[in-house]
Amino acid sequence: MKLQLLSLRRAHAAALVASAAALAVTLAAPTQAAGAANPTLREVADRTGRFVGTAVNDGRLGDGTYANIAKSEFSSVTAENAMKWGSVEPNRGQFNWAAADRLVSFAQANRQKVYGHTLVWHSQMPNWLANGSFSNAELRTIMTGHVTTQVARYKGKVQRWDVVNEAFNENGTLRTSKFYNQLGQSYIADAFRAARAADPSAKLFINDYNTEGTNAKSDGLYNLVKSLKSQGVPIDGVGFQSHLIVGQVPSTMKANLQRFADLGVEVVISELDIRMATPADATKLQQQANDYKAVARNCLAIARCTGITVWGFGDRDSWVPDTFPGQGAANLYDTNYQPKPAYNAFRDGLAGS
Ligand code: G3I
Repeated sequence: MKLQLLSLRRAHAAALVASAAALAVTLAAPTQAAGAANPTLREVADRTGRFVGTAVNDGRLGDGTYANIAKSEFSSVTAENAMKWGSVEPNRGQFNWAAADRLVSFAQANRQKVYGHTLVWHSQMPNWLANGSFSNAELRTIMTGHVTTQVARYKGKVQRWDVVNEAFNENGTLRTSKFYNQLGQSYIADAFRAARAADPSAKLFINDYNTEGTNAKSDGLYNLVKSLKSQGVPIDGVGFQSHLIVGQVPSTMKANLQRFADLGVEVVISELDIRMATPADATKLQQQANDYKAVARNCLAIARCTGITVWGFGDRDSWVPDTFPGQGAANLYDTNYQPKPAYNAFRDGLAGS
């Protein structure tokens, strides 16, 4: 009887050990597979305390493959269009937050940051604003009111905002726009102040393109950021869009990011893609891989470079072919969401290897 009990106990203990081991294997398997041999972009970026983000096209979130990559590979999301003024307030006083809310919920469900894009921009304004005529005082109130409404709605949910987007001409002067023409340069400081008041913990950015290297445009941006900082205007960071061309990552990119960082602001790569003349071939894809890696390394070299967002991840979703006919293949994944050589290279760059 005793023997029987003992062997029963032993059998029970063995079964317990076996099932615990099986459970351990089950629990460990995905982490091991993802964590060691084949980590995701977000796992690699986490290791250096940076975010890796993607622009998300609201219309594509219903596609399982698309949504899976968006959630598993990236630790931050930016609305490609859904948070622009034209999207959220198509008619004056009539708001449409559905797509923007959807992205915020998606991010929360997947432990992602949200990068808000964009509050004050000369493009994609609603028609009522673009074509309406307003006194200067009225326009200033409309602009600051918009910033306040949108930032307050997502208070505590959006960690970074592009407050002002694409304010510069290529020669480094401020772009003429409805805001600049009527309000002068002070529209920029006013937009930042309104954003800070609406969510004091959100980080506030100015964002632009063709400012990655040292040139007249980035000089203009640099001087503006320096002057805003010296006046106590609440600006926390600068976004470098980085819509680049294969083989043309500016050689001065690292030094340029560093000079902005030295002003005491965060720098981010905010809209990275690297286009080529289509069709792609192995040589161009390899050059593109080198370029993605070089951009990641440039960010990693700067302590205040806190993250990189790619402007979409699949070639099928890119804005590039519509804007630059004959060019494309600018993203990390091909049109079937298969990773391209750029994917591994970018991941290596994010790892600092
Ligand atoms: O939503 C309408 C749809 O109803 C209509 O049928 C269709 C017809 O063309 O247009 C749709 O709107 C388009 C929208 O994307 C959504 O797909 C607009 O025409 C199109 O102009 C818009 O393009 C966006 C572009 O910004 C607008 O300027 C791109 O998707 C988006 O990738 C691009 O992103 C910008 C950043 O915000 C700022 N930096 C540059 C970057 C690339 O241009």
